[in-house]
Amino acid sequence: MVVPSVLVLDSGVGGLSITGEILTRCPALHIDYIADLAAFPYGTKPEMQIVERITQLIEHASGTLRPAVIVIACNTASTVALTAARKITAIPVVGVVPAIKPAAKLSKTGVIGILATEGTVNRTYTHNLIKEFARDSTVILHGSAKLVELAEEKLQHGSVNPRLVRQELLPLFTHNPHMDTVVLACTHFPLLKDEFIQNFPEIRFWVDSGSAIASRVESLLNAQGLDIANVNSALQLNTFFVTSPQARYTQASLERYLGRFREDFIFLV
Ligand code: DGL
Repeated sequence: MVVPSVLVLDSGVGGLSITGEILTRCPALHIDYIADLAAFPYGTKPEMQIVERITQLIEHASGTLRPAVIVIACNTASTVALTAARKITAIPVVGVVPAIKPAAKLSKTGVIGILATEGTVNRTYTHNLIKEFARDSTVILHGSAKLVELAEEKLQHGSVNPRLVRQELLPLFTHNPHMDTVVLACTHFPLLKDEFIQNFPEIRFWVDSGSAIASRVESLLNAQGLDIANVNSALQLNTFFVTSPQARYTQASLERYLGRFREDFIFLV
C-alpha cells in the first residue's frame, strides 16, 4: 500500500518540534521535512519576502513530493503566508500560529507571556489573536532572534548553555512576577523547553501548538480516506531536505524528532 506523506517546512530545525508530535500520533506516516536554511532566519525578514519564499517552496516541493498534507511548521511564516499558500495548491495546508487561546484558558493569574520571533511579535495576525482570545489577560510579548539561533545550535552540538537561554528570557520576566503561562510561539522554542523549565521553574504552563497540529493533520488524512493505521512503521525512512548545506546537525538530534531518515538537497533559484 502507498504510504501517505506529509510535507513539513520551516526555516531550520524548528518544525521538527511539530514533526515529533505528528509522528507520535501517526508513526507510520512518511515525512518530507524541508529546512530552508538558504533563507534562514525568517524572523527578521520582510513579510513579502517570506510570502514569496513559502509559495515558491510549496510550488516546487509539492509537485515532486506529492504530499497529502502540507504543514507550514513556522509561526513567522504561517502568520503572514498561509492565505497565499492555500491559493496556490489544492493540497490542504496547515499553519502553525501562536497558541494564545489555550494559554488564556490555562493561566490562573491572567498574566501570559508570548515568546516568538520579532516578525511574529509584530504581526497583525498575532495582535488579532490576542484581541479575540486574550482580551481579559495581561499579555507580554517578547521577540528573540537569538533563541532561534540557540535552538539551532542545540541540534548542531547536542546541547546548549542554559545560561545563554536564561539571558534571552529575562526581559520577559523582569517586570512580571505574576506570569504563570508562556506561549512558545516559534516552533524552534519547544526544542529548548528543558532549558526553559530548568531556568524558570515558577512557570506553570509552557504552551505550544504541536499536539493540536498533529491532531489536525490526522483528521485531514482521515478525511482523504488514508488509512495510516495499517502501514508498517518499522520500514519508514523519512527525508530531511535542506536548501543549503550551511549547518550540520547531529544524527541523534534529528532522529529524536524525525525517526529514521535520509538527507537530501532541494535547490531553489
Ligand atoms: N521556526 C520559526 C517560527 O516558528 C522561526 C525561525 C526563524 O526566525 O527563522 O517562527
